[in-house]
Amino acid sequence: MNKRAAQAGKRAAGYKAADLVESGMVIGLGTGSTVYFAMERLQERIRSGLVIKGVPTSFQTAIRARGYGIPLTSLDEHPELDLAIDGADQVDPEFRLIKGRGAAHTREKCVAAAARQYIVVVDESKLTPCLDAPVPVEVLPFAARPVMEQVIAMGGSPVLRKGVNKDGPVITDNGNYVIDCLFGAIDQPEALEGSLAIIPGIIGSGLFCGFTKKTRVIVGDQKGSRFL
Ligand code: A5P
Repeated sequence: MNKRAAQAGKRAAGYKAADLVESGMVIGLGTGSTVYFAMERLQERIRSGLVIKGVPTSFQTAIRARGYGIPLTSLDEHPELDLAIDGADQVDPEFRLIKGRGAAHTREKCVAAAARQYIVVVDESKLTPCLDAPVPVEVLPFAARPVMEQVIAMGGSPVLRKGVNKDGPVITDNGNYVIDCLFGAIDQPEALEGSLAIIPGIIGSGLFCGFTKKTRVIVGDQKGSRFL
């Protein structure tokens, strides 16, 4: 898929998700280019009278939201959210996800857990019959080496994510490293998510298998958008 087609798909999906938001809602705001299209549409709707608050999942989303005039709040103020809008790197037919290209997946998972409805917005290129992308894992720097050894013992290939325009590793908004772990085709995503979660030093993985029942997936393409 070329970049232009992907952008059109992201915009279509993001706009449809924003149109599900109702006045009075407190919503989770994911991180990434597709969610930012949803926020662009929310800006238009706020100017027309929509009243909402958003919980941002990253510094970048908070900066964008302020630019779009979306009032912000926190999980401290609102531990339950009406819905959350989020992007994904891969979506399988059961609505299990790989997330974390932008290193925001730990906060995104907290927000997804707090939301009554989870709206995932993607372009066609994100759909896959089987999750097989590298799984981003946020790791306490203190434990990076033993975590990498454990991932290797599980059959994975871990790579410490490097910064762009910065020497050395990416540092997340929470002050941690990200290790991208390639496992190939993931036959049992729930089991892998559980196995990663109990490794000391892992703060959160980009496998999202626990939200399928409350997930709706909106897929966009150059012609428009549809619910899966
Ligand atoms: C952020 O860390 C990620 O989980 C993003 O939500 C995901 O990578 C999707 O991003 P795009 O919408 O930019 O593709």
